[in-house]
Amino acid sequence: MKGRLDGKVAVITGGASGMGQATAYRFLAEGAKVVIGDLNSENGAATMAVIAQQGAADRAAFLRTDVAEEPDIEALVAAATDRFGRLDCIFNNAGIGGAVGPITETRVEEWDFTFDVLARSVFLGIKHAAKVMQRQGDGGSIISTSSIAGLNGGGGPHAYSAAKAAVANLTRAVSGELARHHIRVNAIAPGVITTPLFHSGRPEKSEAMAKRSVPWPRLGTGEDIAAMAVFLASDESEYVTGQNMVVDGGISASGPNLWGNGPDSPMLRKSGVTRGSTGLGNDIRELEG
Ligand SMILES: NC(=O)c1ccc[n+]([C@@H]2O[C@H](COP(=O)([O-])OP(=O)(O)OC[C@H]3O[C@@H](n4cnc5c(N)ncnc54)[C@H](O)[C@@H]3O)[C@@H](O)[C@H]2O)c1
Repeated sequence: MKGRLDGKVAVITGGASGMGQATAYRFLAEGAKVVIGDLNSENGAATMAVIAQQGAADRAAFLRTDVAEEPDIEALVAAATDRFGRLDCIFNNAGIGGAVGPITETRVEEWDFTFDVLARSVFLGIKHAAKVMQRQGDGGSIISTSSIAGLNGGGGPHAYSAAKAAVANLTRAVSGELARHHIRVNAIAPGVITTPLFHSGRPEKSEAMAKRSVPWPRLGTGEDIAAMAVFLASDESEYVTGQNMVVDGGISASGPNLWGNGPDSPMLRKSGVTRGSTGLGNDIRELEG
């Protein structure tokens, strides 16, 4: 059967865990060749072992990479062209939580570390992938992981939130410049995705918190993000560029969500019409059940 990414070569950063790993597995299943870059060599080796079990070892490679370092990103992109002859897609996805705590306590080096791993890395990934893609002359797809934390406050620590907003706007800013080269630049903004980064080894505790704010009746998975990444890497999204594609089970659409979405929500226990200060009176009926 023909895969949706047959013959394409992709680099995936942060591919040794979570949504990057799920995307690596999915891209391989769709026929792509994949180079994984990650700082965690142990998880990289474990990921490559799973790929070997799936019979795709000849289409995959792992390179220990620090995405905040320009020589590392250059080497990662070169690994794709050296090993597989070209580059069609880069998924700038590696990430950490970064600086946490009150802004009055945050140290400059903690702020800089957060921006280096989350934002500088995306600049470097776009820069070096675009160079190769322009040279090849037949376009490409650049995808970066932002977050719903970058859409407004309240979705993550302050530095993380600011860095993810930077990822989304760098994506928009660069998309026009690269459009004439047929290079698409998009971001994926995940909501609450059950990965080691989100639950820090305590899935139950985080899931209870997340269930209160996610309208969809389950939390997100790495596969949900991988599915969007396949679409953005494939030719089916040829006319989509400069977008921050939200994959969040409805969190961001809920806005302030003052009344909640659950069965106890006061907004769902009655029906009718309110007429404000008109003096005409309201017409409200309690709903049964
Ligand atoms: N999990 C969520 O709910 C969520 C929500 C929104 C956005 N995100 C973003 O999604 C991306 C993937 O996160 P995840 O949830 O899959 O986390 P994860 O911890 O499971 O995976 C992240 C991977 O990035 C790697 N990494 C971290 N720093 C690196 C560096 N400097 N160089 C190379 N690799 C490095 C880690 O080793 C790890 O393998 C991140 O950018 C994260 O900020 C996650």
